[in-house]
Amino acid sequence: MNRWDIVNRIINKEKYHSYFEIGYGTGLTFEKILIDRKIGIDTGFGVPDKTKCFIGDVQSFFRQNPREIFDIIFIDGSHLFEDVLVDAYASLDHLSDNGTIVFHDCNPPSKNYQKRKYVRGYPGWNGDVWKAFLYLKTTREDLNMFVVDTDYGCGIAKRKAELAKSVSKNTDIVRRISAWIFRIRNTYENLEKNRTFLLGLITTKDFEDLYR
Ligand SMILES: C[S@@+](CC[C@H](N)C(=O)[O-])C[C@H]1O[C@@H](n2cnc3c(N)ncnc32)[C@H](O)[C@@H]1O
Repeated sequence: MNRWDIVNRIINKEKYHSYFEIGYGTGLTFEKILIDRKIGIDTGFGVPDKTKCFIGDVQSFFRQNPREIFDIIFIDGSHLFEDVLVDAYASLDHLSDNGTIVFHDCNPPSKNYQKRKYVRGYPGWNGDVWKAFLYLKTTREDLNMFVVDTDYGCGIAKRKAELAKSVSKNTDIVRRISAWIFRIRNTYENLEKNRTFLLGLITTKDFEDLYR
């Protein structure tokens, strides 16, 4: 099961109408998403045809389109902890009440995949996206979060409707400091020891049962 199968299955089950992708790249995922309305953005580095998506980061997109709300948002741009958090918080501000965020690269297969720089010779690079996912999972009680064990780990965050208004409003600076400490403290060895519990890892079969 690939990341686009995950997204399309959620769209079908939840009857979503709009999709936003952060990190359009070559459009490999974007083109396979079946939905009424979709928009992709990318800072541009990995985009061969720059007419296909909005060129810029999430903050510049939402500055120009402050009223946009999406049902499902796929985060697959920068693979660095702090950038993923920026993408996630901006996404949460522009997600419909019953919306879902999907994060790619949440389950790195070995230590070198999750280094903050791509290690030469490896077929993939996940960066420290897993730490951003884990940080949100431990700090955002308004979100139900788990990772489907496929395609480098597809992390899912769904709003718990009843807690939507209860999120503590840390100031930006408090949030940044606590996030940074969290990133340094959480080593890959911690993840290895308790991967299933920490990520809320589920099989593709479990996912199919949830989203049938
Ligand atoms: C792994 S590729 C995307 C693959 C694509 N989502 C897919 O599944 O086919 C990552 C892309 O994110 C872009 N990117 C990097 N940092 C970004 C950011 N902060 N905001 C948006 N896009 C970013 C890169 O230019 C690159 O094209």
